[in-house]
Amino acid sequence: MPQRYRWQIPLMALAALALLAGMWGGVLRLGWQFPPIIIRLPAQHGPLMISGFLGTLISLERAVALNQYENGRRLRYYLGPLLSGIGALLLFLAFPPTIPRLFATLGAAGLVWLFVIINRRQRTADHLVMGLGALLWLVGNGLWLAGTPIFRLVPWWAGFLILTIAGERLELGRVLLHRPRVRQLFVGIVALFVAGLLLSLVAFDAGLRLAGLALILLGAWLLRYDIARRTIRQKGLTCFIATCLLTGYPWLMIGGLFWLWYGGQYMAGPYYSIMLHTIFLGFVFSMIFGHAPIIVPALLGVQIPYSPIFYLHLALLHVSLALRVVSDLLLWLPGRRWGGLLNMVVVLLFMAVTAVTAIRARQKRATGD
Ligand code: HEM
Repeated sequence: MPQRYRWQIPLMALAALALLAGMWGGVLRLGWQFPPIIIRLPAQHGPLMISGFLGTLISLERAVALNQYENGRRLRYYLGPLLSGIGALLLFLAFPPTIPRLFATLGAAGLVWLFVIINRRQRTADHLVMGLGALLWLVGNGLWLAGTPIFRLVPWWAGFLILTIAGERLELGRVLLHRPRVRQLFVGIVALFVAGLLLSLVAFDAGLRLAGLALILLGAWLLRYDIARRTIRQKGLTCFIATCLLTGYPWLMIGGLFWLWYGGQYMAGPYYSIMLHTIFLGFVFSMIFGHAPIIVPALLGVQIPYSPIFYLHLALLHVSLALRVVSDLLLWLPGRRWGGLLNMVVVLLFMAVTAVTAIRARQKRATGD
């Protein structure tokens, strides 16, 4: 692997460790009698997935992009992902809870700082939306540091991921030259969502319902105006990415529907799980599957050539999540447990397919095929 990727590799490894440990904690929470490895793992499932895995990965991606812009001279940009990655590592150890939470909060502050720099260079609606997403992560982590229970702050964490993705889609849709009214509609929906989060600080139930309404509208906007509607007619990787996007957006709308319907009634259990995983697995992981063949090469310098096998983990993600959601709805315990376990298997399959594809591409290049 080239020298210039030396900073990315350990940080990617920290993010991957958080993902694996987080998923293990998730299946333990579903009642599978697997070895616990670390006793506090199930309780740390949410923080490991959001801050440890996705926070570190998103911060790293931004740091790499900015650093390339500066010809690789700004190593301090890596401070954010480093802090959130260390924060995840500290969750495994017997430190007082404030220590990993402080690291995670500083990591989030690092991402906000990167977006301040990005917005100073190029202030566009999409960069502002992604910067706002980073700010929501910072607020969520700040609440976590202050001792707020996770069910109360998890909408802020969801907002971080949703606005990061929505901002990126807006950025890629610039070529479509949407009419000003369409872009204003997008900004209005984002404002409604943030208003819901702010309201949730004083009236949790009402705030969540308002934010849920905004998520339904956002999903509809993305389905209607995303460039994926056109690129789905192309072939290969472009078509695969569009399929990931267009099958992920309905999950965002379903999640929004549950937020609108149930509001703040649940703080644990099957309905709570639906409200979270429709968004985190259905929406966010569809995006991850779609963008991995682009992001992994940018972060690690390895090529991930498209293969039709990619559709396998995408299809299995949707099927296993549907099984889990329906079982949660029907309060059918075995389906809920198997659905959750399959969710983890699908993510492992995705990681294995990506790794094998990269290794094969390297071997091909080395032998000059
Ligand atoms: C891969 C398979 C996964 C499994 C088996 C799993 C399992 C679970 C379970 C059982 C819960 C508790 C819900 C309840 O009270 O019944 C939970 C909560 C949660 N999950 Fe997952 N999950 C998975 C994936 C994810 C992903 C991908 C994310 C985020 C990207 C995520 C984020 C969360 C969060 C933030 C919570 C709330 C934690 C809390 O309240 O302490 N999960 N998950």
